[in-house]
Amino acid sequence: MRTQVAIVGAGPSGLLLSQILAKHGVESVIVENRSQDYVLARIRAGVIEHGAVDVLTDYGVGERLHREGMRHDGVYLQWPGERRRIDFVESCGHSVWVYGQTEITKDLIATREADGQQIFWSVSDTAIVGADTDSPRVTFVDADGNAQSIEADYVAGCDGFHGVSRPTIPESVRSVRERIYPYAWLGILAEVAPSTDELIYALHPDGFAMHSMRSESVSRLYLQVEPDDDIANWSDDRIWDGLSTRMALDGWSLQSGPTLEKSITPMRSFVSAPLRWGRLFLAGDASHIVPPTGAKGLNLAIADVKRLGSALAAKYADGSDELLDRYSDDALERVWQSTHFSWWMTSMLHMPPPADPDRDFLLQMQLTQLKHVTTSKAAATMLAENYTGSVLPYP
Ligand code: APR
Ligand code: PHB
Repeated sequence: MRTQVAIVGAGPSGLLLSQILAKHGVESVIVENRSQDYVLARIRAGVIEHGAVDVLTDYGVGERLHREGMRHDGVYLQWPGERRRIDFVESCGHSVWVYGQTEITKDLIATREADGQQIFWSVSDTAIVGADTDSPRVTFVDADGNAQSIEADYVAGCDGFHGVSRPTIPESVRSVRERIYPYAWLGILAEVAPSTDELIYALHPDGFAMHSMRSESVSRLYLQVEPDDDIANWSDDRIWDGLSTRMALDGWSLQSGPTLEKSITPMRSFVSAPLRWGRLFLAGDASHIVPPTGAKGLNLAIADVKRLGSALAAKYADGSDELLDRYSDDALERVWQSTHFSWWMTSMLHMPPPADPDRDFLLQMQLTQLKHVTTSKAAATMLAENYTGSVLPYP
């Protein structure tokens, strides 16, 4: 088989890249090791920066987002006894949209399939061969057990943190910067109307809690837990009690409802650079991971593939290598900005582990930071620019 761009991974990065390429008349083939049903059922984050909404809209996959997504013009930051709103529009002139990653994936798959995109689902043994030569290949075993090989001009590694693309780049070429946080998020999806008009991020001595949403009848909530905690330790009652205690505020109450899904996710910051090796380009979670506080993971993936898609389109349109040569450096600027913001939000809002001797001191620093960011116009603007993604121009 031969194509222009072989894409490894059918998450948001791989699917959106194929959509962008197709709009520029560039052919691609996608290989994905999970089934389509599995990919469609995965529940992840749900806050989209305005620039990411523009990319989805410009490339023809924003129709349902605009119909069903919810625009949010602000956010609540909370600590015991206080809940204060930061108004994004007032602070920086932009908003965000709440629309689940699962829905974006669904829209992308429907559009790609209607377009006749070739996607190999449920493959195994994916390998990238000859990435540092002029004739790279992606080899794999398809769902029927047949060995396959795709020859391509370029390979896009969009296969997430556990994929094969990043490890294809020799260790001697890569540098990894990483931080593993001493806590995790327990997330639930619940069949209940949101108890709030905006997302709530709350710091409490028992740990962080947050209230997000997916629709008028479905809420998404999170609790800080120990990194090695087991979901079996958390009955629904214990989860709702924890959420109610940590987000308590006079005159407000949290509505509970049936839990549709619950899971624990570890938290890390991770950046592997460069994002290019020969004809292999990494995008999204394949090269960087952020902790979920601030919801930057999906947004970074969208920014990466917009940049990569435009660079490949320019190469095919006029033979220019300029954007491809700059891809890694240019993309990493936004990656580091979002890595800094999500590290900062995480540090401000999570309780250090009980064994940390600086815990009391750090809690005072966190409370002081929260008061400052919700009082000072300059500090609120810093948060709003980062949260909405307007801090750096969109590619
Ligand atoms: N061969 C083929 N496909 C693979 C392989 C492999 N060896 N390894 C992983 N994959 C697939 C995964 O099954 C997954 O569907 O690559 C896809 C990667 O998708 P994501 O993990 O969703 O990563 P990405 O598309 O970059 O999206 C980033 O996902 O984790 C969130 O917070 C993150 O929202 C962000 C978004
Ligand atoms: C979510 O809705 O899942 C969500 C929202 C904001 C975050 C993280 C997750 O910071």
